[in-house]
Amino acid sequence: MPAFAHISDLHFGSEDPSTTRALIAELNRERLDLVILSGDLTLAARSGEYADARRFIDALKAPTIAVPGNHDITPFNLGERFLMPYRRWHRYVSAEIEPSWFGPEAAVVGLNTARRMRLRLNWSHGSLSRRQIVTLPARFAPAEANAFRIVVAHHPFIAEDTEDLSDRPRVLVKRAKAALQAFAAEGVDLVTAGHLHRTYAAAFDTPPATSAVITQEVAQSHRVTVIQAGTALSARTRGEPNSFNRIEIDGDTMEVHTVAWRGKRWERTDEPLVTIRR
Ligand SMILES: [Fe+2]
Ligand SMILES: [Fe+2]
Repeated sequence: MPAFAHISDLHFGSEDPSTTRALIAELNRERLDLVILSGDLTLAARSGEYADARRFIDALKAPTIAVPGNHDITPFNLGERFLMPYRRWHRYVSAEIEPSWFGPEAAVVGLNTARRMRLRLNWSHGSLSRRQIVTLPARFAPAEANAFRIVVAHHPFIAEDTEDLSDRPRVLVKRAKAALQAFAAEGVDLVTAGHLHRTYAAAFDTPPATSAVITQEVAQSHRVTVIQAGTALSARTRGEPNSFNRIEIDGDTMEVHTVAWRGKRWERTDEPLVTIRR
């Protein structure tokens, strides 16, 4: 059965070494087709943090795919930030900031939502360009016809559906709605993201499930499910333990379970975070 791990916000530089060792052991315990890293591999893009992230990736048996997060662009060296924002990413992680991975049961396409600067005060927020949206069909072109389509990006596309958001950032990636519509049109089944250090699942339906107009469009409706991963290693957890998501594909069903750190071991939840059926 194809299985993937979705891990996020490792934030090397603030990690606990024993939890890191346990995470590597957990990810190597069972065969995984791919480990998806949805950004913020480092705390402040220092070379030492990047070197630790590289050692972590090298210790994994499974192949990896990674996109940058806002913390992976140096905040200290402004010359590097503006002129060569991905210099350290390229040196330590990958030659690509938007990699893809294609298997028989799943196609994974990375989108970079981190930005060196934005026309607003908070540069930590994410953005997706029009070009990234219109080139999506070409990015998925090599996918097998029946493969589940997965996007990996750092910033969130749908907010958490809860009242208790007083201390939590709610800002979504810029052009989130346009991106979700493009994802739906492209048949994307799952979006894996991070940044919030919170685990949740949400869905975007097109046309809206509430639509009263029964037309052919309804028959062609498509659901894009978004899963957010908590922070896998950082001490900056937002009211939940360190965790990651495990994605399992069984025929026409894709099931996501959260695997949480219980102080001594990683524990997979019995109840799935979300189940996606085609
Ligand atoms: Fe983060
Ligand atoms: Fe982030």
